[in-house]
Amino acid sequence: MQKIVINGGNFLQGKINVSGSKNASLPIMAASILTDETLELENVPDLVDVHTMSQVLSSLGVSVASQNESKNNLSLTYSDSDSAIAEYDLVRKMRASILVLGPLLARKRHASVSLPGGCAIGARPVDLHINALTKLGASFELESGYIKCNAPKGLIGNKINFDKVSVGATENIVMAASLARGESEITNIALEPEVMDLITCLNKMGAKIELGDNRNILIEGVDQLKGTVHSIIPDRIEAITYIIAGALIGKNLEITNINIEHVSNVLEILNELSINFAMKESSITVEQSSISDGITIDTMEYPGFPTDVQAQMMVLLSLGKSVSKISENIFENRFMHVPELNRMGANIEINGKTAVINPCQEFISAQVMATDLRASVSLILAGLVAKGTTTLNRIYHLDRGYEKIEEKLLACGADIKRLT
Ligand code: EPZ
Repeated sequence: MQKIVINGGNFLQGKINVSGSKNASLPIMAASILTDETLELENVPDLVDVHTMSQVLSSLGVSVASQNESKNNLSLTYSDSDSAIAEYDLVRKMRASILVLGPLLARKRHASVSLPGGCAIGARPVDLHINALTKLGASFELESGYIKCNAPKGLIGNKINFDKVSVGATENIVMAASLARGESEITNIALEPEVMDLITCLNKMGAKIELGDNRNILIEGVDQLKGTVHSIIPDRIEAITYIIAGALIGKNLEITNINIEHVSNVLEILNELSINFAMKESSITVEQSSISDGITIDTMEYPGFPTDVQAQMMVLLSLGKSVSKISENIFENRFMHVPELNRMGANIEINGKTAVINPCQEFISAQVMATDLRASVSLILAGLVAKGTTTLNRIYHLDRGYEKIEEKLLACGADIKRLT
C-alpha cells in the first residue's frame, strides 16, 4: 500500500504545467471503436484511469499503442472482434467504462457492459444512458449485473431530451447517434469542455454534429467515421487544483497550459475572494492570499461551479476569516473528505447537501485517508499548508486523476514524497 508524506509549510514557487484532461481522454479513447482507422491522440495524461480504459478497449478489439515512446501520445485502432463485453473486473475499477456502450451499439449492434455500480461519491445510476440509447432503437435487459443491449436493425436517429444533465450520458448518445441512420435532435445536453472536446474530435472523424443554442445539438448520422489526429484539451480540474494550492501557499506560482475560458467560472469566485492572481494567455500566476469575506457556492453543471473542485475549495475557504457555504447539487454523497479535513483542524459542519465552512486558524498535520479522487487531493492541499508531517493513505485514488502530482509539487518546493 503506497502513501504520500508531506512536511507542510514550504512556499510553492516556480511553474506547474497542466496535463491533458482525464475526462476528455476517456470518452475520446472510447470513440476509437467508431472507426476502423487509427485515432491518434496527443496530450493524453499518463493516469491509472487512462490505463484502465486502454485495458477495456483492448478487451474489445482496440489495439492501443504509445506513439514514439511518449506515454502522452496514443494510437488506437479498432479491428472488429467477436467480443462486445466490457467485463465486471475492469468496469468496477472505473465507471467511465460505460462510455464503450454507445460506440459498441453503433458498430456491433449489440453490447454487454457490466453495471458500473456505485462508488464513494454516490449510487451513480446509468438510467439516462439507457433511456437515451433506447430512443435510438436499442433494447436492454439486465442479466447478472450486466447491461445486455441489442439493436438488430442498427441505430435510428430520433428526438431525445435528457430529463437531467449528464456528462457521460451525453457522451454516449453523441457517439452512438453519429453512426445512426438519419438525424437526431438532442436537448438538455451537458456542455462541459470535455464533452465539447469529444464533439470536436468526432467532427474531425467525419461526424456531422452541430451545436445549437441552450443545450441543443443536431446530429446527422453518417455511414462511417475515419481516423484523425487530436490533441486533448488541458485538464481544467487539475489547473484549478493547483491554482488553489497557489492561493493557499504560493509565492509567484505559475500554472501553465491552461485553457482560461474553461476555468473562468472559478476565477470569478477567486476574484470575489480577493485572491491575488494574474492571467496571461494560457497561464495563471497566483500568490498566497488571505480571505476576509465569506461566500456561498452551489456546484452546478458547466458553466456553473464544478463539483470536481468542491473539496479543494473547502480547504481554501477553511482558512478564510468568515463563514462560507458550499452546496453539493450534483452528487448525493460528495462530502467524504469533510471528516478527514476536520481531523486536520478544519471546522466544517454538514447540513444535508450543504457544508458550512467555519474559519479555522490553521490546518494541523495528521494521518489521513483518501476516499475518492478529488477528496484525496484536498487532503494533499491541507497537508501542504499544515505545519508538521501529514501522511495520506490509499493514494491509488490520487493516481487515477493527477499525473505526476508529487513531481510537480516537489519541483515547486514542496516537501512531499511517496512511500511504498
Ligand atoms: C462525469 O461523471 C465526470 N467523470 C465526473 O468526474 C464529474 O464529477 C461528473 O461528470 C459531473 O461533472 C468523467 O467524465 C469520467 P454525470 P458522470 O452523468 O458522467 C446522475 C472526476 O472526479 N446520473 O454528469 O458519471 C449522477 O448520479 C469525476 O473526474 C443519473 O442519475 O456524471 C449524478 O448525480 C468524478 N443517471 C449526476 O447525474 C445517469 O444515467 C451527474 O452525473 C447518469 C448520471
